Amino acid sequence: MKSFDFGQVLSTGASGMIGSYVDFGIRTDRTILDILDCEAVTTFVKKHKPRAIIHLAGATDMVKTEQDPLYAYELNVRGTYNVAQAAESVGATMVLASSSRVFDGHKKGPYTEDDAPDPQTHYGRTKYISELIVASLTQKYIIARTAWVFGGGPARDNKFFGKVLAQFGGDEIEAIDDLRGSPTYGKDYITAIKALLCEGAQGIFHIANRGEATRADLAEAMAAQLKPALRVVPVAHGHFKSADGLPANESMQSKRYTMRPWREALAEYLREEWEPYLHAQKII
Ligand SMILES: NC(=O)c1ccc[n+]([C@@H]2O[C@H](COP(=O)([O-])OP(=O)(O)OC[C@H]3O[C@@H](n4cnc5c(N)ncnc54)[C@H](OP(=O)(O)O)[C@@H]3O)[C@@H](O)[C@H]2O)c1
Repeated sequence: MKSFDFGQVLSTGASGMIGSYVDFGIRTDRTILDILDCEAVTTFVKKHKPRAIIHLAGATDMVKTEQDPLYAYELNVRGTYNVAQAAESVGATMVLASSSRVFDGHKKGPYTEDDAPDPQTHYGRTKYISELIVASLTQKYIIARTAWVFGGGPARDNKFFGKVLAQFGGDEIEAIDDLRGSPTYGKDYITAIKALLCEGAQGIFHIANRGEATRADLAEAMAAQLKPALRVVPVAHGHFKSADGLPANESMQSKRYTMRPWREALAEYLREEWEPYLHAQKII
């Protein structure tokens, strides 16, 4: 691997789930750098002159993005525009965290970098527009699409994995078995970004752990490792009102960058970030 000065990398959204794995450079959260404040973003970036900006901040509340399109637009479109123009002003490589939701969700197999985006939701459309902004505004960029990210441990994991683990005190849990995705460890995502920066890579990359799964597969893998007596009951997505409108397929594969299998990554995540907590809370 070639060397890269990660001290000179600025990140936005560093207090978030994926951002918690950024342990280098100039880490910013909303209190340090509000991405909606164009002047502040430009001034901050010109002052620090980073070699790269890892842009993680955005609208990530999936319910709110569909109920309030302006929330999604402001953060994902206007916020990304502000960061991208600042990156370009100092010649930094712009790294954008994008999503499997730029696709329509109907493909039979995993989506590759060659597939054409066709977003179906406000969130997906704003992520796709943010990709177009980055690709047209910056000379050097990495668009790193990912999906079904897990990470952050008990303090930050309030998404699917954290919600499932919160139910591990019971005897059984229900989990959807008719929607597929590529589960991805946030730590592996950041490791991949570092590797791409070292290589001087440019363009669009699918950064997801290898393989695909349903949520029932994930719950079963979690139970097998942490509490084998727990029964996982597979249900169709129509069983949960909150699953309305979710894409049937969010699995991804890269023609350009290979990651370890999701089972290996998930096992490490549970072992290192959850087991001590679950034991201490007497949940397992
Ligand atoms: N998690 C996934 O499965 C997934 C999949 C595909 C793509 N992504 C993308 O990956 C990125 C990070 O996702 P994540 O899961 O780590 O989400 P997250 O935990 O919600 O982190 C997003 C961060 O953005 C910050 N933020 C919001 N508004 C801001 C503003 N005006 N200025 C500065 N920071 C602001 C939030 O800070 P506050 O906490 O203060 O609001 C939060 O720390 C997002 O762009 C997301 O679209 C995530």
